[in-house]
Amino acid sequence: MTILVTGGAGFIGSNFIRYWLSKKEGIVVNLDKLTYAGDLNNLTEFQNDPRHIFVRGDIADRKIVQEILQKHHPLMIVHFAAETHVDRSIKFPQDFIQTNVVGTLNLLDEVREYFRTLKNEEKENFRFLHVSTDEVYGSLKENDDPVKESSVFAPNNPYSASKAASDHLVRAYNHTYGLPTIVTHCTNNFGPYQYPEKLIPLLIMNGVKGKPLPVYGDGLHIRNWLYVDDHSHALSLVLKKGRIGEVYNIGGPEEKTNLEIVETVGSLLDELHPHSPYKPHSSLIAHIEDRSGHDRRYSMDSSKICQELGWKPDGDFISRMRKTVKWYLDHDAWVENAMNGDNKQWFKTHYSELEIV
Ligand SMILES: NC(=O)c1ccc[n+]([C@@H]2O[C@H](COP(=O)([O-])OP(=O)(O)OC[C@H]3O[C@@H](n4cnc5c(N)ncnc54)[C@H](O)[C@@H]3O)[C@@H](O)[C@H]2O)c1
Repeated sequence: MTILVTGGAGFIGSNFIRYWLSKKEGIVVNLDKLTYAGDLNNLTEFQNDPRHIFVRGDIADRKIVQEILQKHHPLMIVHFAAETHVDRSIKFPQDFIQTNVVGTLNLLDEVREYFRTLKNEEKENFRFLHVSTDEVYGSLKENDDPVKESSVFAPNNPYSASKAASDHLVRAYNHTYGLPTIVTHCTNNFGPYQYPEKLIPLLIMNGVKGKPLPVYGDGLHIRNWLYVDDHSHALSLVLKKGRIGEVYNIGGPEEKTNLEIVETVGSLLDELHPHSPYKPHSSLIAHIEDRSGHDRRYSMDSSKICQELGWKPDGDFISRMRKTVKWYLDHDAWVENAMNGDNKQWFKTHYSELEIV
């Protein structure tokens, strides 16, 4: 069977493709625009593998989407492609509306046409899986219960608002046109191949060079953390066993403050880099001006996917973090390459504008 993955050259998409191909599930067509966040170096081992077909293109480009659907005849679609960095969404919200909302709408519309042409048995097995975020539910107070699939949406920044809009479109395409869609909401992912503008790779990269480990505000913002392979496993279960029209929350089990994350990375760098002149790395922690509109707490109840589909995260948080820190230390050429071009400029301007507090 062939599946279409959008945004498969990004962090989670590339890890998902690796996971899916390791299970010998069939052919993957990967549609990716290769924005600053997409990198084919995330998939080098599949360069000459006939099971991975890469197409460079925009999900908003209906012609390319139509061509792919007709030529490759996928029977499942996993939609990761998105603009994903909250800080960038605060500066460039239009880019987020264009890809996350208009792009998703165009993709859905082409898929709807294509779905009508499938044979009955193909229709029964067809799935459109939309990968979304816990951020659509907005910020929780300290004593609030974790969000469930039925919780109301309250997105607070342009990124989460654009993802919430795309979630609603996916729901509407199921309800109105009968497209067999499923939506998942995941918490913060960590693992290999994450673009170094995001917190964990940024901390590792800065820590190795003795640069400040930036923490927004007091650092007491709370998130759940999900190891990317656990996420891929969950998505694969949803594709095979998830119920059409349903929503599944996929969350890491533990709540951590950002400060705890920085301290953990610092101590893992001490452990894995015992001769570093910057030990203890926690001395590099620098509190910077808080992000505008920064949500205080996200927390997700994942009991539905655990009970219904038998998913559970595998392994403990620290061993996953150790593996992640080690991966970045062992792949400095990948990090340097990802840092070139647009990203260099982003770091220069974004972090130099923020004051240390
Ligand atoms: N990373 C997380 O912690 C996290 C948490 C919750 C939800 N998500 C969701 O998971 C999905 C994947 O996130 P990620 O962290 O891998 O993102 P990423 O930024 O690492 O990768 C996004 C990929 O999408 C591609 N892309 C962007 N615009 C495109 C377009 N118009 N057409 C085709 N391709 C395009 C990029 O080139 C890149 O390869 C996103 O939908 C995101 O909202 C991520």
